[in-house]
Amino acid sequence: MLILSIETSCDETACAITENGNKILANIIYSQIAVHQAFGGVLPEIASRCHAENITIVIDEALKEAKVTIDKIDLIAVTEGPGLIGSLLVGVNAAKALALAHNIPLIGVNHLSGHIYAATASKAMIFPVLALVVSGGHTELILMKGHHDFQIIGKTLDDAAGEAYDKIARVLGLGYPGGPIIDELAHTGKDTYSLPRVFLEKDSYDFSFSGLKSSVINLVNQKKMKNENIIKEDLCASFQESVTEVLVEKTFRAAKEFNVKQVIIAGGVAANKGLRTKLINKISDVPLILPPLILCTDNAAMIGLSAYYLAKKNKVRSDLSLNAYPDSEL
Ligand code: KG4
Ligand code: ZN
Repeated sequence: MLILSIETSCDETACAITENGNKILANIIYSQIAVHQAFGGVLPEIASRCHAENITIVIDEALKEAKVTIDKIDLIAVTEGPGLIGSLLVGVNAAKALALAHNIPLIGVNHLSGHIYAATASKAMIFPVLALVVSGGHTELILMKGHHDFQIIGKTLDDAAGEAYDKIARVLGLGYPGGPIIDELAHTGKDTYSLPRVFLEKDSYDFSFSGLKSSVINLVNQKKMKNENIIKEDLCASFQESVTEVLVEKTFRAAKEFNVKQVIIAGGVAANKGLRTKLINKISDVPLILPPLILCTDNAAMIGLSAYYLAKKNKVRSDLSLNAYPDSEL
């Protein structure tokens, strides 16, 4: 089954061609990071405009790179949510137009399911699977007993992990997006600042990063008031240690409790080198799937991979009433 997939939920305009839930023939990503950098974060109106300007370009490029023509496509998949409404609508409307013009079935895909299914490009899923989804908007531990069967066993009570990275980077004047910059700096520094690890109640799989964020902001403000220097590399190392220790510890415990056969990490923060190393060191009894970095941050291939299993399982098809759902859940 050849799938053309479209992803425009945030600030990446992306189109991919995938085959049978594991093969990626093309994965074109136009990142708007350079456009939003001047504002220190994503500006929704500008994001929608950029998507509208680039969507047809990425679709053409994906078909060209995969060396297929549109009449060979069996299914068109598109991210229907969650995400920014204006951004999602550009992708959904482009997908609907293609489906209508070429009489191809259409399917709406949840963005988070896409992040999880990025793993299938590396290895087929063996259930039960535990997925740690860590992105700019979500931090969740998800148990899967079958394809597209998601049980959220833990989630953040406040900030998402990526959001915390981006906020701390802003406070330290490091630029946007903060995750990759903090990750780099952390590797040149030492964990010398004593920051809290928030585990919540003993058995909880939930997360909380707002206390850690406040600790860092208070520390920076106190140092400023006393005219003392902050060693940014060390503070990044301490912050990264605190975030990754909690993520890895809870993932490890859940993998044991639910006796899973695979652990998957997904989402932009899954590109974090510190997190990947810690997971590899800690989780040795269960196969761990760490998707390549390009499939961790937003892309359309993951939407195509997810769509394949969704279409196979439910034979779900969307009609032209498909809409964008900014708050949709797994
Ligand atoms: O999954 P994603 O591309 O978009 C969302 O669905 O949110 O994730 C973006 C988030 C941003 O917060 C970014 O700072 C973070 O992922 N990120 C990282 C790294 N690369 C991207 N966070 C930590 N370390 C990284 N290397
Ligand atoms: Zn994402």
